[in-house]
Amino acid sequence: MQYRTLSNGVELPMIGYGTFQIKDAAQCEQCISEALETGYRLFDTAASYENEAAIGMALRDSGLPREEWFVTTKLWVQDAGYDGTLWAFEHSLENLGLDQIDLYLIHQPFGDYYGAWRAMERLYREGAVRAIGVSNFTPERLVDLCMNQEFKPMVNQIEIHPFFQQNTALRVMEDYGVVPQAWAPLSEAQKDIFNHKTLAKIADRHGKTAAQVILRWHLQRKIPTIPKTVHRGRMAENLDVFDFELTAKEMPEGWSCSVHLRTTTAAIHLRTGNLSLAMWI
Ligand SMILES: NC(=O)c1ccc[n+]([C@@H]2O[C@H](COP(=O)([O-])OP(=O)(O)OC[C@H]3O[C@@H](n4cnc5c(N)ncnc54)[C@H](OP(=O)(O)O)[C@@H]3O)[C@@H](O)[C@H]2O)c1
Repeated sequence: MQYRTLSNGVELPMIGYGTFQIKDAAQCEQCISEALETGYRLFDTAASYENEAAIGMALRDSGLPREEWFVTTKLWVQDAGYDGTLWAFEHSLENLGLDQIDLYLIHQPFGDYYGAWRAMERLYREGAVRAIGVSNFTPERLVDLCMNQEFKPMVNQIEIHPFFQQNTALRVMEDYGVVPQAWAPLSEAQKDIFNHKTLAKIADRHGKTAAQVILRWHLQRKIPTIPKTVHRGRMAENLDVFDFELTAKEMPEGWSCSVHLRTTTAAIHLRTGNLSLAMWI
C-alpha cells in the first residue's frame, strides 16, 4: 500500500474501502471481513450510511491490532453545531464500538458547520480523533474555514473521477495543505464509464480493466480513493493497481470526454429545485 501524509503526520492509505449503500448488516460485516482479507485497511463510513455498527463489529472481530486499520466517519447535517457535533461523535463512537476515530469529517457544508468545526478541533485536541476534515467543501468555503480557525481541515473528501476532474479545487487544496480524497472515484459506475472506448483501449494495452486504469489515474495524481464494491473479485481488482504506469497521453485529461459530468449531487438537486433530495444527499 502507498500512503499520503496529512498535515499532522497521520498516514492516509491511498486506496481505502467505501461503504455507501451497504446497509444490510450481515452483508456489510461480510464485505468488511472480505475487504480486510483482500488487504484493505481504510474503511469509509458516515453516520448517514447506517452501517457504522456492522463495520465496527467486523473490524473488532477481525483480530487485527487496532493500529493496523483506519476508520473514517462523518457528521451528518442535522447534527451540525458545537453541541450537536459532540453528541453525534459520541454516538458514532458507540456505534463503531471504538474509543478513537482515525478521521472525522463534516459530511456537508450545510447548517452551523463553524460550530461543528470548533467541536471537532476540541475532539482533536483531546485525542478522541487522530485527524479532522471536511467533505464536499467548495474552494471558497474551504479557504474561509482554513483562514479563520485554529486547525485547517486535514482532508477534503470530494467527488473526483475522469468525468469530473476538479482541477481548480485540487489546486486550492494543494495551496492550503489539505489532502483530497476522492469519493465516487469510479463515477459510481455511471455514464457507462467502464465501456468508454479510449479507456478500454488503454486497459487492453496494459492487460488491466477499465476500473484499474481509472484508479491508477487517481494514484498518479496522488489522490487517495475509496472505491466501493460488494464483490470480492472486484475488491482485489481495485487494489491491484500498483504495478503499471499510465503515460501522460493515457491520462484522462487527454481523452475525448466531457469533464463536467457529475454523479447525483446536492448541487444538482439544488439547481433543479429538488430540495428534499438535496438535503439528504
Ligand atoms: N462524502 C460524500 O459525500 C460521499 C458521497 C458518496 C460516496 N462517498 C464515499 O465514497 C465511496 C465510493 O463512492 P461510491 O460508492 O459512491 O462510488 P464508486 O466507488 O465510484 O463506484 C461504486 C460502483 O462501482 C461498481 N464497481 C466497483 N468496482 C468495480 C469494478 N472493479 N468493476 C466494475 N464495477 C465496479 C460498484 O458495484 P458493485 O458494488 O456491484 O461491485 C458500484 O456500483 C462510497 O462508498 C462512500 O464511502 C462519500
